[in-house]
Amino acid sequence: MDEPNTAVLEIEKIPVTGSSISGYVALATINRPNKLNALNAEVMESLKALCAWVESNADIRCLVITGAKPLPAEEGKRAKPNAFVAGADISEFVGMDSKATKVKFTDNAVEKIWSLTKPTIAMIDGFALGGGCEVACSCDIRIASESSKFGTPEINLGLIPGYGATQRLAKLVGYGKALEMIMTGEMITADEARSIGLVNHVCKQENLREFTMSIADNIASKSGYTVTTAKRVVKAALNSTLDEGIAIEAEEFAKLFDSHDQEEGVRAFMERDKPKWLDR
Ligand code: COA
Repeated sequence: MDEPNTAVLEIEKIPVTGSSISGYVALATINRPNKLNALNAEVMESLKALCAWVESNADIRCLVITGAKPLPAEEGKRAKPNAFVAGADISEFVGMDSKATKVKFTDNAVEKIWSLTKPTIAMIDGFALGGGCEVACSCDIRIASESSKFGTPEINLGLIPGYGATQRLAKLVGYGKALEMIMTGEMITADEARSIGLVNHVCKQENLREFTMSIADNIASKSGYTVTTAKRVVKAALNSTLDEGIAIEAEEFAKLFDSHDQEEGVRAFMERDKPKWLDR
């Protein structure tokens, strides 16, 4: 499958280091900096194609999603601010009714990101608002620069979040904090986002890429078979009772003992060797 490399979504393939396994971290950059990387139909289609490409290419071991940096200011104009994604493209809401909205929002790209079996990281530098916050919440891990801002300002448009924040944000930060964010529409700082569990790490802007890539490289260098099992089992907790989740874990944990990579991991430890993963 060809890379879904369009004008609005750039893809860089970064080789995985420090592992017996070869492959890449895919760094996907949403590229509409003059519109603060807002999610228009073209971006959403490109993100869907990206997800299909990531899932079907065995050499892609981890996906990092970010937003393009602002372009230099045009003469006489102020520079646009940094953004991960400032939300769904509001200009596309004009004249929409419920029927059109259902078509646009059902089975959307954010759900495709959420459904990926491979590990995903949101690398956030700037505004992560509305759909931007939701793209971040659909990734497994969120890493933000110090000056990033998070929010769900849909209430100011007479709306509620439509790309999953009423559910996934609430799962991350808890019912009370999610409702406060959704009902006030107020933004929070990166430090506040970390303190409520919305982001995993906050770092200086100049270190953001290196830090994020070091985590992506670390995960990508593990057995892909084990990593996808871990993701599947932890996500099962969201839809299960504790007892059901523990039963799922017991089943999947036992199954790993029939895998090559479990045998190899234990062998490598016993022999003080580096494991040679085969992703099975
Ligand atoms: N949809 C479409 N266009 C958007 C956008 C969005 N969600 N967010 C920003 N833009 C566009 C602006 O219209 C502007 O375009 P223009 O320069 O062609 O007029 C450009 O991006 C820069 O935004 P601007 O508002 O001028 O920047 P700012 O620094 O004054 O304010 C924000 C930054 C993020 C506070 C402000 O852009 C904003 O509130 N955006 C909307 C956030 C939102 O409600 N998201 C949820 C959508 S459901």
